[in-house]
Amino acid sequence: MPRTVGIGITGSIAAYKIADLVSKLKKDEQDIDVIVIMTEAATRFITPMTMQTLSGREVLTDMWAPSSQWKVQHIGVAEQLDLLVIAPATANFIAKMAHGLADDLLSTIVLANTAPVLVVPAMNTNMYRNAMVQENIKKLMNSGVHFMEPESGLLACGVTGEGRLPEVDLIYEKIKCLLYPRTDLMGKRVLVNAGTTCENIDPVRFITNRGTGKMGYALAEEAAARGADVILVSGRTHLEPPRGVKLVSVWGAEEMCEIMMQYQPACDIIIGAAAVGDFTVARAAEQKIKKLEGKKQSLVLELVSTPDILKTLGGKKQPGQIMVGFAAETEDVLENARKKLIAKNLDFIVANDITMDGAGFAVDTNIVTLIDRHGEVTPLPKMSKRDVAAAIIDKVIAMM
Ligand code: C5P
Repeated sequence: MPRTVGIGITGSIAAYKIADLVSKLKKDEQDIDVIVIMTEAATRFITPMTMQTLSGREVLTDMWAPSSQWKVQHIGVAEQLDLLVIAPATANFIAKMAHGLADDLLSTIVLANTAPVLVVPAMNTNMYRNAMVQENIKKLMNSGVHFMEPESGLLACGVTGEGRLPEVDLIYEKIKCLLYPRTDLMGKRVLVNAGTTCENIDPVRFITNRGTGKMGYALAEEAAARGADVILVSGRTHLEPPRGVKLVSVWGAEEMCEIMMQYQPACDIIIGAAAVGDFTVARAAEQKIKKLEGKKQSLVLELVSTPDILKTLGGKKQPGQIMVGFAAETEDVLENARKKLIAKNLDFIVANDITMDGAGFAVDTNIVTLIDRHGEVTPLPKMSKRDVAAAIIDKVIAMM
């Protein structure tokens, strides 16, 4: 189906890379029409003529240019768009967006636009990390704007760090996903647990683990993007919940288990991505445990097992329900994962060797192997956690 994408280019040196993006979009087998809008600063980095030749359309730069159509130019353009992409987006343009300013053609189109918006920042590392820039990004994300994180590397200003425009192929893929959203989980209810559980020692101290919630949150986001009703049961994490999911925050493994059991009967798909602690403190102290001044002291904590959540749910699995677990291993990865798949009555398990570079906790990528109950083994290359999430959901759909 034909789609129209607005490509807004702002004044960053990365602007030249957008020529390649426009060219790719125009060559796409689907019929994609590209309208390029450039800020005045962008035209200093790459000429409108280049963009006009590649897009096959007049490039819009001037708020006051006479419009060949009867409509006011910015309204007329905004109405045609199925997606508006701002790439590269400068700190200044992001700030204007976050504050609703409209002082040139592109910022005016942003306000008049009702289609989804994708912003791809590119700037100096310190500018990108600046608290005000981050606050503006957060504000826009909270209002539903899609962002791509910049990559790290050597920047044009000579600094090495985050701020590089992501590879054009990645931007192109993201545009395709937003233009042709998949709806293959429409009408399905997905229960995901994520984050890490915490077990109290006393009112101020607790035992936890290295889980960050990144993988589980990516799964919840992917499932919601594909049309599912998502319930995200989350232990401790610093992450913002994805938009459109029902978040249930929990603290310990026992509470997480109870909540998961409550939702299980109404769910079609259950994914256990939480880093559940295997032990809790037998008797948490009611008051803060005091240290003895000036004395060497030893403190013995008695630990007892927590419930195995997936095993508990696996024992109550309903016909047609798909259950997925994770196995984060440091040795004999596939063998250990297979054992867990069977013990927990799962449909498939996502095994990862957390000793590998770019896999496991606290990183944005993962390297996993999917093992299903029929014995099929699918190793995946190193991918972003969001792409791993997409591959997991694809496998769920294939097994449904
Ligand atoms: O800890 P283990 O390696 O057995 O974890 C494998 C899977 O089981 C993970 O998906 C994890 O979320 C789940 N699990 C659980 N309850 C536990 C421990 C792990 O649901 N107590």
